[in-house]
Amino acid sequence: MKVGIFTGGGDCAGLNAVIRGIVWKGITRYNYDFIGFKDGWRGVLEGDFMPLTTDDVIDMLPEGGTMLGSSRTNPFKDEDGPEKVKASLEKGNVDVLIAIGGDDTLGAASKLNDLGVNVVGVPKTMDNDLSATEMTFGFMSAVQAATDSLDRLRTTARSHHRVIVFEVFGRYAGWTALYSGWAGAADIILVPEKTYSIEDVCSYLQKRRERGKKHALVVVAEGATTSEMDEMIAENEETDQYGHVILGGIGEYLADEIEERLDWETRYVKPGHIVRGGTPTAYDRILSTRYGLKAVDCIKEGNFGKMPALRGQDIVAVDLSEAVAENKKVPIELFEEAEIFFG
Ligand code: F6P
Repeated sequence: MKVGIFTGGGDCAGLNAVIRGIVWKGITRYNYDFIGFKDGWRGVLEGDFMPLTTDDVIDMLPEGGTMLGSSRTNPFKDEDGPEKVKASLEKGNVDVLIAIGGDDTLGAASKLNDLGVNVVGVPKTMDNDLSATEMTFGFMSAVQAATDSLDRLRTTARSHHRVIVFEVFGRYAGWTALYSGWAGAADIILVPEKTYSIEDVCSYLQKRRERGKKHALVVVAEGATTSEMDEMIAENEETDQYGHVILGGIGEYLADEIEERLDWETRYVKPGHIVRGGTPTAYDRILSTRYGLKAVDCIKEGNFGKMPALRGQDIVAVDLSEAVAENKKVPIELFEEAEIFFG
């Protein structure tokens, strides 16, 4: 059995741990052969790969990023893409493809599975917005990094009697903003799932000022909007191969409004990729390893078109199509628990 592995989409902490889990178990328990396609679907389309042995993965558990490289290449962008994927797998004698990615990468993987390619997916994204699994790896690592940043920002905000607005990734779902903002004791958190007006934001901050506090932290997801806005703020109009624009700017917009309306000095910080990079937390190391182990077992059982998912403490195999059917949003009841501490 020869297995090809690749990582697609934005990277996150734990990708190397998944690769290690797959390769280690696949070789030591099932005697499979592995190759790693480079840079996401690009490597699959172009037949650009490297061998993967136990030696290659042995020290990779704590390493951030992905040893295989990644890209946002969409194999369906080119109408011959699916045929090119099939030809490349045939040429490399690859029996099964393991796609480690988020909704875009796994969406394409699911379609290719329907077209007859043997595919197993692994759910990755720091955004935690994949349905069918309770948690994607990379999320908790990003949350921890963002929370550490908020702890630092609080001390400088306090010294200068400022408001600091912290904008984190989170395009359609506000998981990272909610968890880091909650853990970092933010005074208000804005997520795509709940729309406040600028008035609401300012009145929470004013409430805090009336408690005698001279500094405050606001956390906002890049995809959040206020009721005054028609659409999300993007950095520019360019789109990637899946049609996404690069978001960014809501934090700056809020900072300007807050400073002007409340006459309270305000700064804006966007950590961007800083919280996505770096070493996985212990939780993510175990979760990603377990996803890797389950992915190999799916192959062993001939369970294609599936993906490992976390359900309670168990890792189960679910349909890829189920995983990419819709974005997993923050439930409003959970948000309301965090909201109790605003202002
Ligand atoms: O991986 C998902 C994500 O983190 C989004 O939240 C964010 O909008 C995007 O990646 C940024 O992508 P890029 O690395 O291409 O700038």
